[in-house]
Amino acid sequence: MTNREQSAVWNEVVGDAWVRHADRFDATLEPFGAAAITPLALRRAERVVDIGCGAGSTSLALAAAVAPGPVVGIDLSAPMLAEARRRAEAKRIDNVTFVGGDAQTDTPVGAPFDVAYSRFGVMFFDDPAAAFANIAGWLVPSGRLGFICFKPPAANPFITGPVMTAASVLGLAPPDPAAPSPFALADADRTHALLTAAGFTDVSFHDGPTEAVLTRDEDTQVLAQRLIEQHPVAGVALAGASDDVRARAVAATAAVLDEHRVGDEVRMGAGTWVVLAHRAA
Ligand SMILES: C[S@@+](CC[C@H](N)C(=O)[O-])C[C@H]1O[C@@H](n2cnc3c(N)ncnc32)[C@H](O)[C@@H]1O
Repeated sequence: MTNREQSAVWNEVVGDAWVRHADRFDATLEPFGAAAITPLALRRAERVVDIGCGAGSTSLALAAAVAPGPVVGIDLSAPMLAEARRRAEAKRIDNVTFVGGDAQTDTPVGAPFDVAYSRFGVMFFDDPAAAFANIAGWLVPSGRLGFICFKPPAANPFITGPVMTAASVLGLAPPDPAAPSPFALADADRTHALLTAAGFTDVSFHDGPTEAVLTRDEDTQVLAQRLIEQHPVAGVALAGASDDVRARAVAATAAVLDEHRVGDEVRMGAGTWVVLAHRAA
């Protein structure tokens, strides 16, 4: 999928799903984002960019950590950026700005930055080598990079269980491990080489959270539907499917989720990398 196609996905059905369910996704993803914020040891007045910031919850957390330092969130998705701006206004946080742009090719206003950060927003580039070289160029010499991404599919039953069950009902082929997808940076050796070639040093990989709490209160069918809708490939396929196929995809996904329900909660295993690096001095 090219970045232009990626933009269409995140501006239409999938972006809409992330906005409609923003608080629920954030409840699940907050510990993952925090795992990459903590080791950055942010200091007051530092300048930070949040790559693929989506609906902005991590940008707001970064803004609190560096205030009054400026935080810039960049994303392709207009509806997600609108939600991010709405949240910042509601919380009266004024040291954060949200800008539309392609992190692979554009330079956000506010560069250079001391820190570049992302929670699951750097796996969707059609040319990751160009994208990380571009991001290195936004940083001051020795500036820090910290992001969280997924380990391979086998380490992530919370994605592969529900969404790949839906994908098989929807007739989708398994993803190419190097193509833009949630798993595009899963191979640590390949990602290490990519970052080094892009101008980063001191690249290190650390284990992130190993479990995702998918819900604490929803009906399983409702949960199944939103988990499929938010996935950049399965969500688009679900939107274009017939009523019958859509119902079967949701039911099959719900059956997997029910196996992991304990009381009101659904918890499943996750595998993530917290990746840290510096821009070369
Ligand atoms: C899995 S979502 C994560 C969103 C947010 N970081 C979060 O954790 O809630 C991936 C995000 O990356 C954005 N994205 C994908 N490709 C991008 C690109 N080339 N430039 C900027 N943003 C991009 C999408 O629009 C989407 O908001």
